[in-house]
Amino acid sequence: MIVPGDSPAVIRAKKALNSLEFNQRLDELEGASGRVAVDEKRMINCRADLNQLVPLKYDWAWQKYLDGCANHWMPQEVNMTADIMLWKNPQGLSDDERRIVMRSLGFFATADSLVANNLALAVYRLITNPECRQYILRQAFEEAIHTHAYQYCIESLGMDEGEIFNMYREVPTVAKKAAWGLRYTRAISDPRFKTGSVSADKELLRNLIAYYCVLEGIFFYCGFTQILSMGRRNKMNGVAEQFQYILRDESMHLNFGIDVINQIKIENPHLWDHALMEEATQMILQGTQLEIEYARDTMPHGVLGMNAAMMEDYLKFIANRRLCQIGLKEEYPNVENPFPWMSEIMDLKKEKNFFETRVIEYQTGGALSWD
Ligand SMILES: [Fe+2]
Ligand SMILES: [Fe+2]
Repeated sequence: MIVPGDSPAVIRAKKALNSLEFNQRLDELEGASGRVAVDEKRMINCRADLNQLVPLKYDWAWQKYLDGCANHWMPQEVNMTADIMLWKNPQGLSDDERRIVMRSLGFFATADSLVANNLALAVYRLITNPECRQYILRQAFEEAIHTHAYQYCIESLGMDEGEIFNMYREVPTVAKKAAWGLRYTRAISDPRFKTGSVSADKELLRNLIAYYCVLEGIFFYCGFTQILSMGRRNKMNGVAEQFQYILRDESMHLNFGIDVINQIKIENPHLWDHALMEEATQMILQGTQLEIEYARDTMPHGVLGMNAAMMEDYLKFIANRRLCQIGLKEEYPNVENPFPWMSEIMDLKKEKNFFETRVIEYQTGGALSWD
């Protein structure tokens, strides 16, 4: 209602609202056709209102959202003083150790942006379930925190930012991993891309496998293992602590992605045909090969109690696990995990109760102790 004293601008705003037809506008929102029943909810191609979070259908997605929030952390909480002294001391680290720190920060500083962009610009729109979207928003924020953490390390150590942030274009073993991931974003990040046909739905599944199983599920593992190994030897403890927090988040991202992929398969069994299973296997094997090449490039010699051959075994062990997690058969027979201590820190043996056992340390923000 217009009252005396309203300025011409306020009057214009009030008049504009008079013509707002809210019933019609609600219909324009995606799928907003009435109250939602739980049976109508679907991972993809859902026609029910996506703005109604409840009733929940996928409790696992909501639980992961809650767990992610309970484990909130920020990079500045980690003390970097000892790292700075060690990094600046010419005798502090060997050349091989320095190479690992540089390459890890170089790869991860941009990799998490690739993941975040894929989530925000492609995946979010195509997953038609509000509780999964709620987790994707949380994940996207965590990816921003990860990029922040890498930048915080790079800045604290006084590294050449141009060199580090361009490794994904200039260092071949890093560039190949980025290029491999980007290939799977191209089609689905086109704003005209729509799911609903068999070929489009398969393209979305390929993207989810590429990003969750390969990028977050394999490409992160050589760098994480190297940096955490450094922390176990009491070197670069600040960087290692940042990586440990990140790894905990990533372990959750991976598990969420596996659940999403498997749920889409359950709801759309026609998509998971022999051809796509073959293709998914190939994608995981290609990713493993690229990560093995990265391991060789970053570890030309034995370092920190590990070498490229051990890392190769570890990556094959991880790849077998990724294959099994989405219902495919293992491809590397008789590989053992050479780094059982990694299981303590992340998603292998303890993935089910990982957050329950460690969550207190997260919430107090106290320094982590190395096993
Ligand atoms: Fe991340
Ligand atoms: Fe992630």
